Amino acid sequence: MSRLNILVIDDEKLICWSFKQQLKKEGYSVETAESGEEGLERFKEKYPDVVFLDNKLPGKQGLELIKEMKALKEDCYIIFMTAYGTIETAVMAMKMGAFEYVNKPFNFDEIELILENIEKKINLDNELQILRREQQDKLNFNHIIGTSKSMNRIIDLAKKISQSEATTVLLLGESGTGKDLLARIIHNNSNRKDKSFVTINCASLPETLLESELFGHERGAFTDAKTQKKGLFEVADGGTVYLDEIGEVNVALQVKLLNVLESRVFRRLGGTEDIRVNIRIIAATNQDLNAAIEQKKFRNDLYYRLKVFQLTMPPIRERREDIPLLVEYFIQSFNKQFRKSIKGVTDNALKVLMNYSWPGNVRELRNVIERAIILETDEWIDTDNLPSEISGVKPPTKITDVEKWLEIPEEGFSIYEIEKSIIEMTLQKSGYNQTRAAEMMGVTRDTLRYKIKKYKISQQDG
Ligand SMILES: Nc1ncnc2c1ncn2[C@@H]1O[C@H](COP(=O)(O)OP(=O)(O)OP(=O)(O)O)[C@@H](O)[C@H]1O
Ligand SMILES: [Mg+2]
Repeated sequence: MSRLNILVIDDEKLICWSFKQQLKKEGYSVETAESGEEGLERFKEKYPDVVFLDNKLPGKQGLELIKEMKALKEDCYIIFMTAYGTIETAVMAMKMGAFEYVNKPFNFDEIELILENIEKKINLDNELQILRREQQDKLNFNHIIGTSKSMNRIIDLAKKISQSEATTVLLLGESGTGKDLLARIIHNNSNRKDKSFVTINCASLPETLLESELFGHERGAFTDAKTQKKGLFEVADGGTVYLDEIGEVNVALQVKLLNVLESRVFRRLGGTEDIRVNIRIIAATNQDLNAAIEQKKFRNDLYYRLKVFQLTMPPIRERREDIPLLVEYFIQSFNKQFRKSIKGVTDNALKVLMNYSWPGNVRELRNVIERAIILETDEWIDTDNLPSEISGVKPPTKITDVEKWLEIPEEGFSIYEIEKSIIEMTLQKSGYNQTRAAEMMGVTRDTLRYKIKKYKISQQDG
């Protein structure tokens, strides 16, 4: 099997060099670049599977690069490298689409473990895509998890809405609360289910393009309109149009949308013929539309048209009782995906998950469980495989003044002996709890296990 194609972007020559040394002998192909610009160039040549990206780079910063690289190759795995104590940047990187982050300095056991996980993931991908497509077709109300009062209410209402003919729906709620999911479920459970569910993200296109995407255009309507093109409203005839991030639509286009909502009739750009369609519109936003109306950025009349049925998805922090169910649901589904048999989370881990604020809501929870399932080698997910901003575990003290602690004798001494002693002493201090000892040394439990084996450290009963 050919192994992954890797790009390392770091201005520290030594880091680039060690990646090459260490990973080439494992059969990976490794390219390196020492600045953001060079990194992007290499990226466009190789379209690598995996990128190790340093944040502090001459020229473009690592964070900026994530977006550009993701736009070029969405399924590229970016591992963000940060210095200790810059956890916020790492979190931002994860939010922007990085797959994982590692703290510098790291060791190559850690890196190889990450790469092996990515390989597993990629190998399952084809199978997964098929699975996902099947699931998407079969999505129903059982796939929206939550038994809290607020969720029950939403599910009940959504069921009624799905049975109604063409009622417009406005979905509100913070990012990651399940608006997309609910929109799709409403469609799949309506009598429109055999027609298209068309989604468009209103924030992702420039205004003029958005308009021609929605309404279509006649040949010659504008310079680039070389042929006639049907818009999404036409394509979705009989089905559902999901207008995501409706708050981003400009006021001129809002007027046109209002007309469509009122009459279900429109014209293509440059066209003279009225086109009538039978569509249900579901709009969504995580913005505060009332504030946008006050600032005259959103039209009141459009708002009233949209909110025939308005559902506000509650954030997780307002329905914490749903957390155990969600955790269980995602464990089961990722177990299937990654062929694992994780049984659940430990009491401690559950406590941590229940107490966290979940600014990224269900999406964040899902990602946390996915990551934990990938990393976990035991049957139960424990706190050490939860991101530290969630588990709140303090990173180990960073010693900068080693000379205060240690005097090097004339003849010097073996660095291996020191490492071995530190591991032995930390294990002792932790009562031979490997999880805790690994935390105290700032390494993963797998790294610790590897070292225990390497140094033949005896395992006392804790
Ligand atoms: N109640 C839920 N039960 C199961 N999965 C959920 C639930 N809510 C959200 N999810 C999952 O969480 C992820 C994020 O949900 P979704 O994309 O629907 O959020 P959103 O509200 O559209 O977010 P954004 O505003 O960022 O677009 C998806 O993978 C979705 O399937
Ligand atoms: Mg969404």
